[in-house]
Amino acid sequence: MAFIRSSRSPWHPDSGLQLPSSEITPQEVYASRRTWLAQAALGSAVVAGGGLGALLNPAQALAQGASGSLVKRPGKLAALPGVRSAVPGAIAMEKITAYEDITTYNNFYEFGTDKSAPAENAHTLRPRPWTVSIEGEVGKPLTLGIDDLLKLGAMEERIYRLRCVEGWSMVIPWVGYSLSTLIKRAEPNSRAKYVEFITLADPKQMPGVRSGVLDWPYVEGLRIDEAMHPLTLMAFGLYGEVLPNQNGAPLRLVVPWKYGFKSAKSIVKIRLVEKEPVSSWTKANRGEYGFYSNVNPKVDHPRWSQASERRIGEGGIFTPRKATLMFNGYEAQVGQLYAGMDLKKFY
Ligand code: MTE
Repeated sequence: MAFIRSSRSPWHPDSGLQLPSSEITPQEVYASRRTWLAQAALGSAVVAGGGLGALLNPAQALAQGASGSLVKRPGKLAALPGVRSAVPGAIAMEKITAYEDITTYNNFYEFGTDKSAPAENAHTLRPRPWTVSIEGEVGKPLTLGIDDLLKLGAMEERIYRLRCVEGWSMVIPWVGYSLSTLIKRAEPNSRAKYVEFITLADPKQMPGVRSGVLDWPYVEGLRIDEAMHPLTLMAFGLYGEVLPNQNGAPLRLVVPWKYGFKSAKSIVKIRLVEKEPVSSWTKANRGEYGFYSNVNPKVDHPRWSQASERRIGEGGIFTPRKATLMFNGYEAQVGQLYAGMDLKKFY
């Protein structure tokens, strides 16, 4: 029942154990982005170039940054073709976390609960063949194979902050397209108030699924307006290449203003539903992991503060922590989704 079964207890989870030491600064990328900012500030075509751009004026674009060139590929996995740089608003103007850290410090409980376990064990995941079905309150239920999914929308690089509920964070150059592109294809009807994401739970491929650490499959949910928000990303890659298995191959959700556990990995089913879905983490401990789980420095986790975070790859436990930003820094884009809501109550 609702006792705490996760490795997120009983100590402060951000105890600093297993700190990755590598730290790569893609300085040239950072520099080129700054140059390009000057053009964005002039209100260039990029501001009008896509769904996200429409949310921003040039001054906001300047404040939030914009990308002119793609992050350099590490050359480890297959490149994703045709990737374009993201429109303003999808960029965190901060040092991008090293590929090594993004791919070796993971939460993917289907492969074990240690941060290093997914990188060690996820080689057994078979990301092809793969299908995703979209069903429920839709006019046109669909099942799409990974090759069709890859072609469905224009691939964009989006550099987002990822803030884990445990108190650490990264800056990740994802590649994908807005989830709305996919959902619209299935033609949601007026009863579609929420979206439920169901991920693979195959004990043959995922040794952790044999454990009772969570109630499998891993399930997450969003309100329909959150799911259709242009920042909500269906990610197929990172650093310009296909997703490594440990990061949720072949496709995962990325909701940058919410704690990382909302960003479900290795999705197989998307259900449009009328009632609020119950996520795996809420089932495991409703008092600690609510449905909304928006990043909020003013609403603490019952067992630790959420006011600050440790950026992975930027020093050890003695390095000063960064202040956590409201909605993880995406308040200008998403704050209006929660207008009038008591964010302490709807945590
Ligand atoms: N998705 C599945 N299927 N299983 C998981 O255990 N962990 C979540 C989320 N998605 C998880 C998941 C948590 S707690 C976080 S912080 C992020 O994935 C971590 O993503 P990353 O390992 O790519 O940084």
